[in-house]
Amino acid sequence: MKRFGVSVIGVGAISESAHIPNLLKIPASKIVSICDIRKERLQLMGDRFNITKRFADYRDAIDDKETDVVVVATDAPSHAKIVLSALERAKPVFVEKPLTINVADAEKIVKTARLKKIPLMVGYQLRFLPNHRKVKELMRNGEIGDIYTAHVRAETLVIKEKETLLIDYGTHFFDLIRYYFDNDHIVSISGQLTLNKKGLQVGSSTLIKFESGIHANIEAYWLPNFNWGVVDRTLEILGSNGKISTKMSGPDIRIWRASSFRDRLLGPQVFLPKEAVSSYTPLSDYCYHEELRSFFDCLVNGKDMPINAEDGLKALKIADYTLKSHLADQKFRGLKL
Ligand SMILES: NC(=O)c1ccc[n+]([C@@H]2O[C@H](COP(=O)([O-])OP(=O)(O)OC[C@H]3O[C@@H](n4cnc5c(N)ncnc54)[C@H](O)[C@@H]3O)[C@@H](O)[C@H]2O)c1
Repeated sequence: MKRFGVSVIGVGAISESAHIPNLLKIPASKIVSICDIRKERLQLMGDRFNITKRFADYRDAIDDKETDVVVVATDAPSHAKIVLSALERAKPVFVEKPLTINVADAEKIVKTARLKKIPLMVGYQLRFLPNHRKVKELMRNGEIGDIYTAHVRAETLVIKEKETLLIDYGTHFFDLIRYYFDNDHIVSISGQLTLNKKGLQVGSSTLIKFESGIHANIEAYWLPNFNWGVVDRTLEILGSNGKISTKMSGPDIRIWRASSFRDRLLGPQVFLPKEAVSSYTPLSDYCYHEELRSFFDCLVNGKDMPINAEDGLKALKIADYTLKSHLADQKFRGLKL
């Protein structure tokens, strides 16, 4: 099997806890170097994972002859320059979410990736959680009839403040909802934000209408003073014949069907996706592994990336329209996102 030499650029929290351990497990990947602007971090991570080639400048990491592929897990404001540099040098990219911190930079990346025909994947890992895959399958099989609406309520204690709630956290759910509806065109968006006394986004509510007529309502909240025990992270799908809900990170799926005598009598059935039953790996770890496995599978087999630069751009555009809608107190219609 072909093995791709990987340079991991940005060896902070997510690289340490997820990407480096997962890259070490994936047969098609071979970590050849790491890069970070923080010298002590570079040394710590290099020693911890036994990686001897270390760079302080991302351009040297990309240019190195052993680097076939780049994994970008730096702070989001630096994604654009690093990703563009890798694409210019024809090196495929896996970049952590968000693709960039603004629409204009994401558009440049989309153009460059298209022009140069270089594969790029954005790390919106929720698409790889087995509970979401299973819920999507149940919807598709008509288990709850015609789909009317989807509702996401996602609360968190931690965000990267500078990047804003919408971009750092909200884009996860904008991407997930596009996944649920097969990347259907979005024709209208309206949004409202809640700001705290410092003017920071602490709440966002985005109403999306797809070309199919289905609506999705996505609420994201940043609640730094709460504790994990009380935060709610639920997705609910309502159909003409029932409803399904699951937690954002799984594992339980609850389904209630109006047409089922058992469900009408006893209430919703609760079950787990098979991966949650058959594996000791927490699903949150499982999905980080699956996204990278899928990235390498696409590289090896020449398949389209499951979350490409256009998808990264669209998640950012939904965030952008939410903000603009809030500021102008207006709904944006006639879109073809
Ligand atoms: N998908 C998820 O659930 C998830 C979870 C956490 C973080 N993330 C994303 O991963 C990225 C990194 O987040 P993190 O929590 O690991 O952050 P972090 O701050 O722990 O790590 C970022 C690292 O990048 C380094 N860095 C910054 N600029 C650089 C540059 N120009 N060149 C080389 N290194 C540079 C920093 O020194 C730091 O070590 C962000 O985009 C974040 O949104 C995604």
